[in-house]
Amino acid sequence: MVVELGAGTGCISRHVSRSLKNGATFISIEKNPQLYKTLVEQQSDTCFVLDAAENLPAILQQHSVTKADVIISSLPWASFSTTLQHQITHAIRASLKPDGIFITYAYVCGALLPSFAAFRKQLTESFCTVDTSRIVWNNFPPAFLYQCRKPVPVFVKSAGIPSSHRSKYNC
Ligand SMILES: C[S@@+](CC[C@H](N)C(=O)[O-])C[C@H]1O[C@@H](n2cnc3c(N)ncnc32)[C@H](O)[C@@H]1O
Repeated sequence: MVVELGAGTGCISRHVSRSLKNGATFISIEKNPQLYKTLVEQQSDTCFVLDAAENLPAILQQHSVTKADVIISSLPWASFSTTLQHQITHAIRASLKPDGIFITYAYVCGALLPSFAAFRKQLTESFCTVDTSRIVWNNFPPAFLYQCRKPVPVFVKSAGIPSSHRSKYNC
């Protein structure tokens, strides 16, 4: 089960939809009605939902899904208030399977904004591991990915996770 937040014009949605394995399901959420209308017209084989990312748990429930394996976000995190960042990361955490992955990208130029640091803090407080990719300099603007995982189940804790990767969830 894959979820996308902030489909926009649908360029990531199209790639996700094409790379789904047999039987995998995909829901993509966009809150702008005009963009949603275009997405539905142009990619009729994808399940687009006109709603806000902060309502993710309720949206999944409406689609008879309990938790997602992967959540991909194109949301403009640096333009959100700390409260909205918190609401959405909370909704994402609540909607991921225990071994699920949350992936989002950020623009390097946003690093000067206080909201950029606030979002990074939000991620490290909400997830067990927060890995960053290399910077893709030939993207315009240059960007990188955050890949976040929830706390691992207790039975694999003893396998040893580096203390540098531990958060308040003590994983
Ligand atoms: C950077 S754009 C998406 C880029 C996208 N990958 C594309 O191909 O166009 C961010 C999108 O997030 C949507 N958005 C912003 N806040 C949202 C929210 N709270 N819930 C859902 N979508 C949201 C905006 O309407 C916008 O379309």
